[in-house]
Amino acid sequence: MKVAATKYFFPPESIERVLKQFRDVLESGAYLTMGKHCEEFERKFAEYVGVKYALSMNNGTSALEAIFRAIGVEGAEVVVPTNTFAATAFAVIYAGGRPVFADIGPDLTVDPNDVRKRITDKTKAVVTVHIGGLVSPNTLELMEICEEKGIYLVEDAAHAHGGMLNGKKAGCFGVAAAFSFFTTKVMTTGEGGMITTNNEEIYEKAKLMRDQAKIEGRNFHRELGNNWRMTEFQAIMGLEQLRLLEKMIEMRTKVARAYDDELSGIPKLSLMEIPPRVRPNYYKYIAFLEGYDRDKLYAEMKELGVSMGGLVYEIPLHKQPVFQRYASESLPVSEDLCSRHICPPIYPQLTEEEVSYVASCLRRCLS
Ligand SMILES: Cc1ncc(COP(=O)(O)O)c(C=O)c1O
Repeated sequence: MKVAATKYFFPPESIERVLKQFRDVLESGAYLTMGKHCEEFERKFAEYVGVKYALSMNNGTSALEAIFRAIGVEGAEVVVPTNTFAATAFAVIYAGGRPVFADIGPDLTVDPNDVRKRITDKTKAVVTVHIGGLVSPNTLELMEICEEKGIYLVEDAAHAHGGMLNGKKAGCFGVAAAFSFFTTKVMTTGEGGMITTNNEEIYEKAKLMRDQAKIEGRNFHRELGNNWRMTEFQAIMGLEQLRLLEKMIEMRTKVARAYDDELSGIPKLSLMEIPPRVRPNYYKYIAFLEGYDRDKLYAEMKELGVSMGGLVYEIPLHKQPVFQRYASESLPVSEDLCSRHICPPIYPQLTEEEVSYVASCLRRCLS
């Protein structure tokens, strides 16, 4: 049996609906970017997340940069979890800020106690990254810390479409949040991004920057802008994926429950606990190795036909060459957990047979 690491979910009737709308747009002669489909996608995404504003973007990295520029991190420090994709810290730097790395807790998200230690007079914001689609209960403590210190909490929700804590969706906890719709994400537009916020000023600033800082759509500019626009084709795919999102999360959750059953009791493997009041979107299913080399396991699984899922993340940012000048000390929890977590394949259409096969291969390798 061959099992892929990841698959997007576009059932045949969805493909038909998308193609019909592509055709309608092309035949209409309407603008192919930032038109009525982008507006509808923004409106429905804001409604889904439970915020006032959503702004479609060309990707998640620019969504983050626009947020950091809008809150004004230039010359300031931004506390960033060391366990994230490089884009989180890149965006801080592009916006003129300095990333300060903080360690993580057992759920792989940033540890509020370590965040407290990193806050100085220069700190403008703290970023939380909902790793693997899990909105950690620690988010509430981070909100309190930021409020107490008078700084912003920004959510990197690139993984977390539909992930929930206490019945509230990822994207409504911080002053603003950035989503990614990259091909591997829980919902995808190929490339794409979205900002969500309740803050009108952030929304207006980001909106201006997104379209070359054109004032009232004219070629008149008071500040720097960029081309961060989303096309109508991405928005059409996004609307279709949003329509399917709850179903996709339900199907991913079913796969996760099957893994819970199949993987318990395998030697040298422990499963990540999901805290109460959390609904992950299961972008990733995460487990931890104890006393077995991960590269060896991934190679053995590949031999058996199973492509294991991408890691979140294998090398923390403070250990990456590009960030050496921002890294000052060891962050032991991330160094441990990043080196030994695994992500078995998970996607809506993964069958029970495939889950059983993956589990039997893991059991064989680790026993
Ligand atoms: C945590 C995190 N932040 C930011 C990004 C950047 O998103 P994009 O690839 O859409 O620019 C990603 C996407 O891979 C991500 O996983």
